[in-house]
Amino acid sequence: MDSYTNGVKGIILAGGTGTRLYPITRAVSKQLLPIYDKPMIFYPLSTLMLSGLREILLITTPHDQDAFFRLLGDGTQFGIRITYVVQDQPNGLAEALILGEKFLDGEKCALILGDNLFYGPGLGTHLQENTDVNGALIFAYQVSDPSAYGVVEFDDTGAVISIEEKPAVPKSSYAVPGIYFYDERASEFAHHLKPSARDELEITALNNAYLERGELRVEVLSRATTWLDTGTYESLYEAGGLIRTLQHRSGMRIGDVEQIARDQSWI
Ligand code: TTP
Repeated sequence: MDSYTNGVKGIILAGGTGTRLYPITRAVSKQLLPIYDKPMIFYPLSTLMLSGLREILLITTPHDQDAFFRLLGDGTQFGIRITYVVQDQPNGLAEALILGEKFLDGEKCALILGDNLFYGPGLGTHLQENTDVNGALIFAYQVSDPSAYGVVEFDDTGAVISIEEKPAVPKSSYAVPGIYFYDERASEFAHHLKPSARDELEITALNNAYLERGELRVEVLSRATTWLDTGTYESLYEAGGLIRTLQHRSGMRIGDVEQIARDQSWI
């Protein structure tokens, strides 16, 4: 451990193919597209920074790494340290824990998807209090179309019965947003996962590995928190409008990584 880590490291997964945004993403990484006045990647990066994490691994496709480096460099200007790793093929979200094994070096981590945007009062503080997990911590968020995500089934007492990846018939309306906290064993568990029918290492399979051991906590995210997955034209457009409206209305900036670094006294 050094001054950049408190025992928890951050991983941003910004590879993928972005097929739902073709033709735009044939030439440009989805996570570099603008959400109003900033590149998409600033939003998940700011969420990790608000969680108090300064040691960040950025996973990209081989051909997009240079562009991300031009944007973010080694992170010094934001008071953080960014390490880069490529994912050769989009083999699934859980591969992040394998690609990140050396970087994590036996420490805990927060994994966030490069196209997920979180906004809510007190979210940073709340996440900060929860980064030091034993087992795994994931979230559940009520959405109108959960079948595009991992879906959590709860029993009458609120205990988790199952998590299913992109079910045709969802057992609840609670989707799993793209931020996950794991203890030191995540990479080890990820190595034991078998690829799914679509030939991916599913993050839901990793979460189920923790669930089977009774070591998965699922917290329902407050409705005061906004969660957007910005991977479609509609959501990209909506997210841009939302950030614009919130910033104009409040005069505050959202996802401004430099300002967050100053607020945290990191620069
Ligand atoms: P998705 O949106 O599920 O996949 P995608 O980005 O390839 O887009 P599409 O479905 O339109 O083809 O990915 C969620 C996030 O995870 C996104 O930021 C890309 C990233 N990702 C990877 O980095 N590696 C992967 O293997 C996968 C599947 C996704």
